[in-house]
Amino acid sequence: MSIGHSSLPAIAGGTPVRAKPLPFFRAAVDESDVAAVAETLRSGWLTSGPKAVELEKRLGDYLGARHTIAVSSCSEAMFLVVKALGIGPGDEVITSPITFASTVHAILHNGATPVLADIEPETFGVDPAAVERALTPRTKLILPVHFGGQACRIGEILRIAQGAGIPVLEDAAHSFGAKVDGEQLGRIGTATAFSFYATKNLTSAEGGAVTTEDEALAQRVRLLGYHGMSRDSWSRYSDKGSWYYEVQIPGFKCNLSDLHAALGLTQLAKIDALLERRRQVAAGLTRALQSCAAVEVPAEYPGNWHTWHLYVIRLRTNTLKIGRDEFIQALRAENIGTSVHFIPIYRHPFFAPFARAGQSFPQSDDYYARCISLPIFPDMTDADVRDVAAAVTRIADHFRAD
Ligand SMILES: Cc1ncc(COP(=O)(O)O)c(C=O)c1O
Repeated sequence: MSIGHSSLPAIAGGTPVRAKPLPFFRAAVDESDVAAVAETLRSGWLTSGPKAVELEKRLGDYLGARHTIAVSSCSEAMFLVVKALGIGPGDEVITSPITFASTVHAILHNGATPVLADIEPETFGVDPAAVERALTPRTKLILPVHFGGQACRIGEILRIAQGAGIPVLEDAAHSFGAKVDGEQLGRIGTATAFSFYATKNLTSAEGGAVTTEDEALAQRVRLLGYHGMSRDSWSRYSDKGSWYYEVQIPGFKCNLSDLHAALGLTQLAKIDALLERRRQVAAGLTRALQSCAAVEVPAEYPGNWHTWHLYVIRLRTNTLKIGRDEFIQALRAENIGTSVHFIPIYRHPFFAPFARAGQSFPQSDDYYARCISLPIFPDMTDADVRDVAAAVTRIADHFRAD
């Protein structure tokens, strides 16, 4: 039942649930963020310097990670780790098809071959059994994705990797702050990559980080991420610095600026409250939608502490007269923003050849046909949550198959 609205969906001529659009996402920025960025602008030091150094320290403290390297994005974080691990042409890397393109780009830009393994339907992460089937003597890395704010079945994946004697790089772009069996993501696999992109749990507008317990790997990632130079510009130009540096390897430029780090620091200072609000919004959506016959609500996998970066419902399309795409159109008519995470990698023209001959992805196909990411962000009010639920429910009721 829709709450306080007529039952006719806007797409069928009713009044939209909301007069003003609810965006899919809006960043939670307050005056503390604005002041910190303004202070950095006024400081005269804009690029990587004291703020980036402080962010690395505070991230390390929060995550309990031994080494933290702040970088310009999660895409660069993953690229650098794959490179630092020495993975290249002839090597295979197993990953999930339900991810953003850059997980696969990190493999391809190193000359290695991505191997896709199907997901499982509870965490939407890669299925450990599919990973096991995808292993070959050429497999040099497993790159699982902690999708939507919770851990994938990382324990089982680690055991497979240990059995094969290969490292694990975790794509935790969505899942800053998530825990599995009480342990924070960030120190489980060989290395973990986080995203601080504008929509993520923790944001610096653009940015990311690598965490690892492996000192040699950390040093190599740092070197590769800053031109292969022995000293970054802050350590050369600050009071105690020296102008001298040496280029030790051909590197890349992936440093995080102080402007971005300043925002990252103020966001990190309130991360527990931001995550708690995401959990409340998710709980509100689940309470309101779990009795809707056409909707499968997402769940926290046992042992996981979910940070709800995304709230992905799956439609029971066999109970509806419309499909996923029409449902999204109908939500748009109600002024509710949505998204789809993700178009499976093998459905993109460029990546299609990376699916092995005869390989099928029944779980990813089923997920993709039915998934809708509903709005979820810390500044969503309880009234916003009610509007989203009311819109979904009235569309589902109206288009129920007889
Ligand atoms: C699963 C996943 N991995 C990696 C990334 C890349 O993150 P960034 O934008 O920080 O490079 C994203 C971005 O949306 C993502 O969703």
